[in-house]
Amino acid sequence: MKAQVLVKSELQGLPLSRLPSFTEEEKNFIKGTADIFCVNHYTTTIVSHVTGPLSPPSYQNDRDFTEEEEGGSPATAIKNQRAVSWGLRRLLNWIKEEYGNPEIYITNNGVATKEKTSWDDIDRVFFYKTYINEALKAYEVDGVQLKGYTAASLMDSFEWLNGYTVGFGLYHVDFTDPNRPRTPKFSAHFYFQVMKDNGFQTNDDERMLYGEFPQGFLWSTATASYQIEGGWRADGKGLSIWDKFAHTPLRIFENDNGDIACDSYNKIDEDIAILKQLRVNHYRFSISWTRILPDGTKNYINEAGFSYYDRLVNALLAANIQPHVTLYHWDLPLALQNVGGWENDTIVERFRDYADIIFSRLGDRVKLWVTINEPYNVAMVGHGYGVAAPGISFRPGTLPYIVGHNLIKAHAEAWHLYNDKYRAKQNGKVSITINSDWSEPRNPYKQEDIDAARRVIQFYIGWFAHPIFNGDYSEMMKTIIRERSLAAGLTQSRLPEFTPEEIKRIKGTYDYFGFNHYTTVLAFPVEYGNLQHYDGDRGAGTTADRAWLNSGSGWLKITPFGLRRILNFIKEEYGNPMIIITENGISERGPVDLKDSHRSYYYEKYINQMLKANLLDGVDVRGYTTWSLMDNLEWATGFAERFGHFYVNRSDPKLPRVAKESVSFFSTIINCNGFPDPASGPHDCMKQEPEETINDSSVNFLGLKLSAEEAETGLNATFALLIIAVTGAICLSIGCFLTKRRKKETKKVDNVELERKF
Ligand code: NOJ
Repeated sequence: MKAQVLVKSELQGLPLSRLPSFTEEEKNFIKGTADIFCVNHYTTTIVSHVTGPLSPPSYQNDRDFTEEEEGGSPATAIKNQRAVSWGLRRLLNWIKEEYGNPEIYITNNGVATKEKTSWDDIDRVFFYKTYINEALKAYEVDGVQLKGYTAASLMDSFEWLNGYTVGFGLYHVDFTDPNRPRTPKFSAHFYFQVMKDNGFQTNDDERMLYGEFPQGFLWSTATASYQIEGGWRADGKGLSIWDKFAHTPLRIFENDNGDIACDSYNKIDEDIAILKQLRVNHYRFSISWTRILPDGTKNYINEAGFSYYDRLVNALLAANIQPHVTLYHWDLPLALQNVGGWENDTIVERFRDYADIIFSRLGDRVKLWVTINEPYNVAMVGHGYGVAAPGISFRPGTLPYIVGHNLIKAHAEAWHLYNDKYRAKQNGKVSITINSDWSEPRNPYKQEDIDAARRVIQFYIGWFAHPIFNGDYSEMMKTIIRERSLAAGLTQSRLPEFTPEEIKRIKGTYDYFGFNHYTTVLAFPVEYGNLQHYDGDRGAGTTADRAWLNSGSGWLKITPFGLRRILNFIKEEYGNPMIIITENGISERGPVDLKDSHRSYYYEKYINQMLKANLLDGVDVRGYTTWSLMDNLEWATGFAERFGHFYVNRSDPKLPRVAKESVSFFSTIINCNGFPDPASGPHDCMKQEPEETINDSSVNFLGLKLSAEEAETGLNATFALLIIAVTGAICLSIGCFLTKRRKKETKKVDNVELERKF
């Protein structure tokens, strides 16, 4: 600082620095006049060097930098005061290093919210949660001598230039009331808990449970046809709605498409090898409807396309892996879309015909079936938000419900078909796979948030589970949609009605509860007025706790506790059905790193919550499937979000599958059928003989499967041999040539001699 102000002053033609200097005596007097280091802290900015102007001479201009807001962190009610929690830890460490590890007291730390926020101040809760956690890291991990923390402020008060327009308080003060009543905010309850726990306690929910899953537990991993197969025009396959969607500009990130994808259509052997390496006992994959029925109808069966699944199923069984087959994972025949797709109720019969063909041809070997994958996504994402095929978004208040209605009927007909025609002989299990987040109230002290969380669940999992497991749509959905429709002047509900016969026919069409789950949301009420939209009907917004760990997908936060809660919800709400988790997993994006510790962490925590649900809560969960076997086309986000156990190297035309580190982690859980207690170890199940390892960089060399190094050695050796051979050949020819010449010369000489002789 002295140097900087001095040089600026010199450049400004001043005889002395504008920064006053202390005398030696003053320095000695001042130094050490602090028993503790007290620091007030609010935000972090990003600075970059600039040459500050010489005039006017000022503190600002002396510094030679500009400041920007840290764009990745949430804005607050005061400009330039973003909530950048990680900055607190760095500042505390800086103080430690710079000032000889003093005892530190944080004497002010807090955040402003707009006056109208009053007592429901979730942003302040997130602020304290993340900042105090960073302070804890500085103390616990970095050895900063942090002795105290002061939340600012006790109550809303006069905030200098901002007057009463913003408040920092843990208590809300009503400045319109002459008595100035104080009301504790949500943050006050939260901060009370932090003080009581003297930090953040690991609650019971987060502690590991050691134990095993029931014998015969199903361990599986999943993929879907459009996401991995490629071969989009191969052997007579018809076009699907995803082929069209992906070939429509601006629909898929970076113009990716599934034309080739992971080329699984041509790689049965490779896929089986990685499944074996993962040690799963089941494999969930889906059938591309148009590979079998190019125009979606039974008019023509494409045997070449069918042969792929026939061979795949046989190869799986030969590897002792049971197939778990999904009939419909979103790739509807384009020909059927052209006559209305899921909106046209003739689709129910078309789907039944398709299911009939597949059951009849594969049912002798396939014993586990999913009719339809994630009907919520088909209805809402494809026909409401329109960010998945067929990409329709202009009738969000009606179309998703019509589509949903037909999906439920189609599923039920396929189940009945199996039940009536195939079950006795084939003895398999058929169900639908329903997906849902778990939903918690954003503010657990607020009834409106508790109600919003319930609505999110009923409109998500309940939309499809209620008719199939309990009969008909839930009262909540029926009432809300009818009332909102009538209030908007419609003559009837936008939610179609099932007839009493249909309700009966649909109820009970399951042999297990197929369930896809990834994450949890926080819900709060949102009033959409007259907007005729699913979101308006649900009347809720969702957000994420800022302390939750992220993934490669914006919507997916690591929230293991939610799995146990939603499994319990399924048990209570739908009569304790047998559950198979048909998908669960986590993504990453950005540079490839095979050390995917986030994935091992995710699986360990989620599977452990599933174990608790099973052993402690009596949830009848019989199987678990990870998403996904390998990195693949993540729908509209293309190949950028990677969920795979195996990385697929897309820059190599051979698309090799390369194991990420979590492969051995997950396969150990499978081998142990759960989590053996380390206290009673060592456990043999944890030391596995490697099955058949697919080498990261294995290459085909002269017909042999070799590692890159082996191939390199091979190549060098061949080269050396070649050089020896060539040199040898050259030497040999030279030798021959010389001998010949010598012979000739001898001959000549001989001749000469002879001649001479003769
Ligand atoms: C569910 C879907 O079934 C699957 O296709 C998708 O890739 C994963 N979720 C991850 O988003």
